[in-house]
Amino acid sequence: MNTSAFADFRSYPLISALAAVQPLADRLQVQWADGRFSPFHHQWLRDNCPCAECVYSVTREQVLEIVDVPEDLVPNTSRIDAQGFLCVEWQGGHHSRFDPGWLRAHAYDDLSRAERLQARPKSQLWATDLSVPVFDYQAVMEDSQALLSWLLALRDIGLTQVRGVPTEPGSLALIAQRISFIRESNFGVLFNVQSKANADSNAYTAFNLPLHSDLPTRELQPGLQFLHCLVNDAVGGESIFVDGFAIADALRHEDPEAFRNLCEIPVEFRNKDRHSDYRCLAPIIDLDALGRVSEVRMANFLRGPFDAPAAQMPALYQAYRRFIAMTRETRFRVMRRLNPGEMWCFDNRRTLHARNAFDPASGARHFQGCYIDRDELLSRILVLQR
Ligand code: OGA
Ligand code: ZN
Ligand code: ZN
Repeated sequence: MNTSAFADFRSYPLISALAAVQPLADRLQVQWADGRFSPFHHQWLRDNCPCAECVYSVTREQVLEIVDVPEDLVPNTSRIDAQGFLCVEWQGGHHSRFDPGWLRAHAYDDLSRAERLQARPKSQLWATDLSVPVFDYQAVMEDSQALLSWLLALRDIGLTQVRGVPTEPGSLALIAQRISFIRESNFGVLFNVQSKANADSNAYTAFNLPLHSDLPTRELQPGLQFLHCLVNDAVGGESIFVDGFAIADALRHEDPEAFRNLCEIPVEFRNKDRHSDYRCLAPIIDLDALGRVSEVRMANFLRGPFDAPAAQMPALYQAYRRFIAMTRETRFRVMRRLNPGEMWCFDNRRTLHARNAFDPASGARHFQGCYIDRDELLSRILVLQR
């Protein structure tokens, strides 16, 4: 039996060695060389046994189901071996051997859990004075360190620009695929943003587009949006961005009732044409399991009529007006004109984007866009960091 199989594809640094292990009624109490104590319940240890019987070494996925071992299973012996691993011999004869780096990384004493919470990536909120992080196409295409820096900026700031992208149509697919596969929609794998006679969206006109997220009509809004400028000879059409998380945060402090209403009252977004009819009913602001703002869903031009109890309607309008009014406040807005060869890439579930009206008679304007889901971004970051 291979008892040193890893339950993971990465390795864990030895932050502190195991110093002692004390058996208690329902757990082992581990003491680390730096003085920390961590409890590990018998069930937890047995559940996380990394041996080749419990974890398939090819997929590193668990084969064991904890319900198949007795609830009151206890160790016969536990000790720290010559390599500093925690070795447990269970009643019935199964052996488990735990890497101290892995064990420390998953310890659930209060201090270790607080440290992990602290180490989670945090959004850096921004406002009008943001200096937009700019990345070079060639570097991102060739160098995995440059790629990682770009992806971290996307994760933490949610708005980036890439320069030096070839102006051949389709070039954005190559850089998008540096992250992962593209998320297709009814507008195509790549969509062309141009003023069109038979437009199937206000986006494909020369109108001003107010601050919005793309595809709020879908249960899962696309995580990343790419907008690549091929031609921009028209007068007008500047890009505008706001940090939806920063606005939601400000609203939470400045008008807590409006904030609560936008978190709780669902609103329907709709997008329809001759062949499709997409609808999503969801609140404009979404919170994660820790109560932090995790998503903003907004496109006034795709919104259906409000459908809320009569008693809530005035409050919903008040909150909605307040939110839109904030997206128009200069303190939050970043406005830039995109030139050919430049590309926006931003977190579509956080950063709202807009476009000023342009004059199609004054010159051509052609952008291409595509989407990638947030999961792909986060997975790519973790693999690059291995
Ligand atoms: C869009 C969009 C921005 C632009 O197509 O959804 O926001 O600058 N376009 O044309
Ligand atoms: Zn095992
Ligand atoms: Zn858009």
